[in-house]
Amino acid sequence: MSKALITTFSEKLIAWHARSGRSGLPWQGNRDPYAVWVSEIMLQQTQVATVLERFPRFMKRFPTVKKLAAAHIDEVLAEWAGLGYYSRARNLHACAQQVMQQFAGQFPSDPVLLEQLKGIGRSTAGAIAAFAFHVRAPILDANVKRILARLFAVEGTLQDKAVNDHLWGLANQILPSKPQDMPVYTQALMDFGATWCTARKPVCLSGEKKCPFEKYCQANLSNQVLALPKKVVKAKSPEFDCDMLLVRHGNAILLQKRPSKAIWGGLWSLPESIWVAKSTPRKVAPSLKSFLEAALPEEKAAVWLKACKAVQVGPQIKHVFTHRRLWMQIWDVNALKSVEPESANLKWVPLSQLGRYGLPQPIKILLQGLSLARGDGLKN
Ligand code: ADE
Repeated sequence: MSKALITTFSEKLIAWHARSGRSGLPWQGNRDPYAVWVSEIMLQQTQVATVLERFPRFMKRFPTVKKLAAAHIDEVLAEWAGLGYYSRARNLHACAQQVMQQFAGQFPSDPVLLEQLKGIGRSTAGAIAAFAFHVRAPILDANVKRILARLFAVEGTLQDKAVNDHLWGLANQILPSKPQDMPVYTQALMDFGATWCTARKPVCLSGEKKCPFEKYCQANLSNQVLALPKKVVKAKSPEFDCDMLLVRHGNAILLQKRPSKAIWGGLWSLPESIWVAKSTPRKVAPSLKSFLEAALPEEKAAVWLKACKAVQVGPQIKHVFTHRRLWMQIWDVNALKSVEPESANLKWVPLSQLGRYGLPQPIKILLQGLSLARGDGLKN
């Protein structure tokens, strides 16, 4: 059974795509490797509906790999703001520079070379090679792993390297024989995973009997569709507390640039204390002195202390990351006079100019609230 499936899979899938796949997306049918690459990176962790809005905007702002490579990282991060997973934006920028320096501005077509570029994993390398260059390279993202684990009843967890190697082998075997079919095939595989062979409501369980693989899918034939791929029980992500200072002077806010390797790396945020494991009940307000010394290490805490009035408690904001949850306690500090930060990483920024800075999403929302209250404009 699986032999028949291996030889006919791509034809059936392409036929399915003609009937039920997604079409007319702005990055489809585009063979410009730069556009393909930008769209694939954006689509990795962002929903199609959001990418539909943000991809054309990004391409307008940075129309070529040369322009992206020449931009300042702050411009790229500001354009990426709101899309999350900011390492993607830092990697896009670094990768554009690699393409300029190592490949004279031309993306390579070989997936092995593509995979050596910043931020491009094996599956994304396959997608770019297939879409832009019609190379017979497989993809294997989470959706494709699910499809294959079901079709071929692959037991074992996806964490297991041997299981992954086996799935890559299958992904390779089921490729269409004609290179020119690679773009539609690759898109079809993505669409089938995203819309039909979904994790919780696969079409085969709707009773409509319309999945083209029902007669071949070993998980379906053995009633294991929801059991495959094997779920990995995830530990609950740890929770942290941190304090953040909202220092205001007139209509300006003190922003601090985050270190590039940290979470929200390279974005502008509020000065913050170190993160500590969440405690209940939460500790009381930090003394401004200790906070300034911890949060603004390069600054003369004494100068700042004189400039700032007492701290007032602000809102507490929860933010959920992939691997941790963070509770941010905002402390509102009115500065009596504006102290010059004496550091490239600290800046007084008027509320009306916040839109020029890449800010972490929860901080952006917090400051948007302030801007609205004051009538200054921080737009989406
Ligand atoms: N996810 C990653 N790449 C995609 C694409 N080309 N179309 C739809 N979803 C995707």
